[in-house]
Amino acid sequence: MSEAVDVIWDGLKSHEPRNLPDLFEDGDRTAKLSGRIEWGAGDTAGGILFDWSKTHLDDDLLGRFEKLAEAMDFTGKRDAMFAGKRINNTEDRAAEHTAQRGVGAASSVEEAMALHARMKMLVEAIHGDDCAGALGEIKHLIHIGIGGSALGPALAVDALTRDLAKVDVHVVSNIDGVALEQAMEACDPETTMIAVASKTFTTIETMTNAQSALKWLEQNGIGDPYGRVVALTASPEKAVEWGVDETRILPFSENVGGRYSLWSSIGFPVAMAIGWDEFEEFLAGAQAVDLHFQSANGRSNLPLRAAFADQYYTRLRGCQTRAVFAYDERLGLLPDYLQQLEMESNGKSVTAAGDPVDGQTAPITWGGVGTDAQHAVFQLLHQGTHLIPVDFIASIAPGDMLDPAHHRILLTNCFAQGAALMAGQSSDDGARNFEGDRPSATMLCDDLDAATLGALIAFHEHRTFANAMLMGINPFDQFGVELGKQMAKSIEAGGNQFDASTERLLEIAGLS
Ligand code: F6P
Repeated sequence: MSEAVDVIWDGLKSHEPRNLPDLFEDGDRTAKLSGRIEWGAGDTAGGILFDWSKTHLDDDLLGRFEKLAEAMDFTGKRDAMFAGKRINNTEDRAAEHTAQRGVGAASSVEEAMALHARMKMLVEAIHGDDCAGALGEIKHLIHIGIGGSALGPALAVDALTRDLAKVDVHVVSNIDGVALEQAMEACDPETTMIAVASKTFTTIETMTNAQSALKWLEQNGIGDPYGRVVALTASPEKAVEWGVDETRILPFSENVGGRYSLWSSIGFPVAMAIGWDEFEEFLAGAQAVDLHFQSANGRSNLPLRAAFADQYYTRLRGCQTRAVFAYDERLGLLPDYLQQLEMESNGKSVTAAGDPVDGQTAPITWGGVGTDAQHAVFQLLHQGTHLIPVDFIASIAPGDMLDPAHHRILLTNCFAQGAALMAGQSSDDGARNFEGDRPSATMLCDDLDAATLGALIAFHEHRTFANAMLMGINPFDQFGVELGKQMAKSIEAGGNQFDASTERLLEIAGLS
């Protein structure tokens, strides 16, 4: 890091934290530290309020972090990402996921739109005639992929199809056969399609699961099992080699990273479940956040402001984790999704230039749903020895049709937790004393529909990017997952010597 950056960090380290309740002496605090991102009009209008006022960010910190962003050339790096420059320097690639939402270099947007048009044709052909269209009767889709090729589809399908999906989608990721067996048991082979989702089309879990799914179709009398397969990949030639007909390959650009790929053809199962129009709404919500992130500067840029708070807690207050609690049953898979997004992107020890990083990088992301989590892990949040910044997410409109009391109690609990963490309550009895001064941020959605989910995910993508830029690291590679994969391959190949413990485990399990 440059000397100027070191000086800014030294200044940040000298900042004297004030108590959260004291910060509210500034009557404008809530307005200053909240902002909305909106989209659509009329029936499609929606928005999310991002309230960061219950964090320790104040004018002094915001000013210093703005200087850091400037010194780290945040604006230049952001513009380079949107322009399709090769900002993933270790893999010499661009990071063009936003082009999938219509924001980015003109040629990349054009390519993405053409590929979307192809995906739309296939989705609508399947949905035609009440799902008895061009490909015969299709009632189920088994989507096979892992990591970025599964977590997004699983989250979006689960969040957006609690009422009724157009096609019943099962996402299978784990190599543990129990996962695929369970999906196969829930599907009728006569009316099931298989989506094989893999950017590289080489991932061992996905290819093994895909072979077993084909075998299942064959054993159940399907004459041409490959005729039931759709491949979602950035390596179409490998899919052809594997046996998929070119007409059923939905490609996407190499410049879309695995954990940023939900917007590309990896989103095929989502479009199959919710329909094409809704899928477009999903992209539109994400686009609204892209446009905000692309044009807003300094503290008024909401993902960047969130990253200021993240950097403050991780680097200056030593917080090792950040928790996210959606007070919405439909977002039960969000923490899993965010774990990959944030930990695979920013869980690094070196800068983009290869130098050791100075301080902690990504916090450990974890969480759950409220109010369930209140009765499980909130004791530690309120009275434990760890300082854990918490994100709350909730929707003003309910997702259920029951007595409004359900949603009222859900929301009041969500807001009460943020207030209680901050205010605390003093008591002479240590066991009953709540120190307070514990930070949280709240994302309050008008409703949880497809556009809102798109916006929430895009917000976190840009927040992750902004954090990476403030630390000078490359969020778009993931070499850390390679070593374990290589070792598993060597074990499979046999004849390799490992440490005594591993050798004994292999022997006991009958694998050596
Ligand atoms: O395990 C790491 C990883 O490369 C992820 O980044 C990626 O999302 C996942 O594996 C799946 O890769 P693919 O889509 O190529 O099968």
